[in-house]
Amino acid sequence: MNDLNKKSVHTILHDLTLEEKIGQLLQLAPFFLLNDIEVEIFGSVQELNLDKEKIFNSGSMLGIGSAEDMIKVQSKYLENSRHKIPLVFMADIVHGYKTIFPVPIALASSFSEKLVYTSARISADEATTAGIHVTFSPVSDISKDPRWGRVVETFGEDSYLAGVMSKAMVKGYQQDNISLDNSLASCVKHFAAYGVPLAGRDYNTVTLSHIDLYSEYLKPYKEALDAGARLIMTAFNTIDRVPCTTNSFLLRNILRDKWKSNVVTISDYDSLRQIIDHGVAKDMKEVAYQGIQAGLDIEMQSTAYTNHLEGLIKNKAVDERLVDEAVLRVLQLKKDLGLFENPYKGAVLDDSTRVLTKENLESARMVAEESMVLLKNDGVLPLDKHIKIALIGPYADSKSVIGPWSWHGSRDVHPSLMDVFEENIIYHNNRSDIKDYTEKDLEKINQSDFIIFALGEPDWLSGEAHSRTDITLPNHQEKLMQLAKRANKKSVVLLFNGRPLVLENTLESNAIIECWFLGSESSNAIKNVLFGDVNPSGKLPISFPRNLGQVPYTYNHLNTGRPFIEGTNNEYVSKYMDSPNTPQFCFGYGLSYAKFKYTNLNLSKKEMRVTDSILASVNITNESNVTGKEVVQLYVKDVFARVSRPVKELKAFKKIELKPNETTTVSFEVSIKELVYQNILGEDVFDYGEFVIMIGCSSDDYLEDVLYLVED
Ligand code: BGC
Repeated sequence: MNDLNKKSVHTILHDLTLEEKIGQLLQLAPFFLLNDIEVEIFGSVQELNLDKEKIFNSGSMLGIGSAEDMIKVQSKYLENSRHKIPLVFMADIVHGYKTIFPVPIALASSFSEKLVYTSARISADEATTAGIHVTFSPVSDISKDPRWGRVVETFGEDSYLAGVMSKAMVKGYQQDNISLDNSLASCVKHFAAYGVPLAGRDYNTVTLSHIDLYSEYLKPYKEALDAGARLIMTAFNTIDRVPCTTNSFLLRNILRDKWKSNVVTISDYDSLRQIIDHGVAKDMKEVAYQGIQAGLDIEMQSTAYTNHLEGLIKNKAVDERLVDEAVLRVLQLKKDLGLFENPYKGAVLDDSTRVLTKENLESARMVAEESMVLLKNDGVLPLDKHIKIALIGPYADSKSVIGPWSWHGSRDVHPSLMDVFEENIIYHNNRSDIKDYTEKDLEKINQSDFIIFALGEPDWLSGEAHSRTDITLPNHQEKLMQLAKRANKKSVVLLFNGRPLVLENTLESNAIIECWFLGSESSNAIKNVLFGDVNPSGKLPISFPRNLGQVPYTYNHLNTGRPFIEGTNNEYVSKYMDSPNTPQFCFGYGLSYAKFKYTNLNLSKKEMRVTDSILASVNITNESNVTGKEVVQLYVKDVFARVSRPVKELKAFKKIELKPNETTTVSFEVSIKELVYQNILGEDVFDYGEFVIMIGCSSDDYLEDVLYLVED
């Protein structure tokens, strides 16, 4: 088949045999084509039941590593396939290709759509050089449970924030035009609600009400689709006890009917076959039947369609039109990507002018600087540039700060803290066990002016399949704080971790900075913040619990019928006997070296009609002598409605910069959009009456006033 580009996708479809059509719905790892096919078929993947013909009919590849490999695989494929429809190459470019940006939970901490866009734009520009066409990103799953290892890949606990960030990422990858050589098509994942497995254990059951789904969990995926994401990946979990991969409520009722979306649907890795383990299909034939009926287009790394769809269609159990619809979507994606014009789209063998460039690293540093969250500072920060430092803890000279899902990023090329603070460091030790520190060590620590504790989880402790039941610092690293006491030194704790942690004794430190995993430029960015060249401005996108017992905690919980009111001691109310209800650090919290004061909350009108909008504004003054950035947050509470509504919900935010002693007014438009909610059917509804409008610097520090929604 030549001149694919001149043909419509319908014509191309028409020219394919049934077997070839089904092949378009199969995604395999490229090693089948990189290595000797005969060896692979009879090797470890024998259970996939593949033969040469099926491999040369597959439609897409998962996880190509370089332009060289891509060219090799594509040319071998095109030589051997009858129809010559190019493969589309997909991979997980989650927070960078070779220049690594902060992990998504850190990106969300920046509360900056602009920076998130930049990180996605540069990631796409770099990754496309390897001939990658689709990225499995953003992760738009909301997560409120730090036990779950994939919190690190998410934008945190809030639906609105995750939606804004998902949108910015999609725009950054796709540039509104996926045919461009340096655009990646975006695949949003994991549809749906993968981020709330019971007990925080990855892949575990999800039990959410439909109202929870509609009012929170589905929204960020929808935002990504509205921004133009071209694919959606199904999740490993069940919804209503039906695996998401074969869940027609999600894939047909929500995606196609309600959202009117025609994007390509793709399973997660082997998740179609796994419906057998879920106990809803007894063999691969039934798996294939359920997948295509439910609306799953591509199956990743399992072979139910390949081995069974043809038979099901011939026996009239499945309507061929279902396959045609799925294949048309895949062909359209390939056409829109420009693969019919150039099957080697993007791939450049010499990527040196595009990858890991000075400019890209500079951008990575700027993003990293704004992704840190200053959790505590009793005045010790910023540090004097001549200060003598003792650098202690497992991240003291570790280069492993790029975080999970940076498979193309090198862990060795970027500077460690040791490297960047070289001139100031008079002592360092990367041991995490207090027992490894002797009197000799203490003598040297004594000669320093200040201790930097670089603590955290090893980066492999978060990510897929890395759930924990203990969310404290591993190996009792917090005991290292004793060194500060014994040497009578002030200290800062730098935290490297993929999830909120219970911080215990580290809270005694004079200052704490949440660094998450900041990517290639981690150490330089940290240095700039510690020395005050950059003023920290990140805010937490997820609450930090005081203890494991509070998990999962969320700031936007319902009031309950027996709310606990701070300062009272009623017994039969919703509280713990051994812990406050409030978290250690709340959603939206983060300090600055500047001091911001909020005054004069003003609503332009106290009453609003459904068709009106009002302005809610506040004055913010920088009462310090340093310039700083602040994330001004708008929360709304619907006081009485037909269903119980959260105690507050983030509805908007703005990141502003204020010079010393400068005052500015920040205004938010509030319209019916901020006041509606979703009912059990997913319809937007509202109730007249009282709404509390809150504007502040975090979810528990704000000014408030009441707005009434009134009838015409
Ligand atoms: C993960 C996905 C990822 C896929 C392909 C799966 O195990 O859950 O997030 O995109 O693998 O690498």
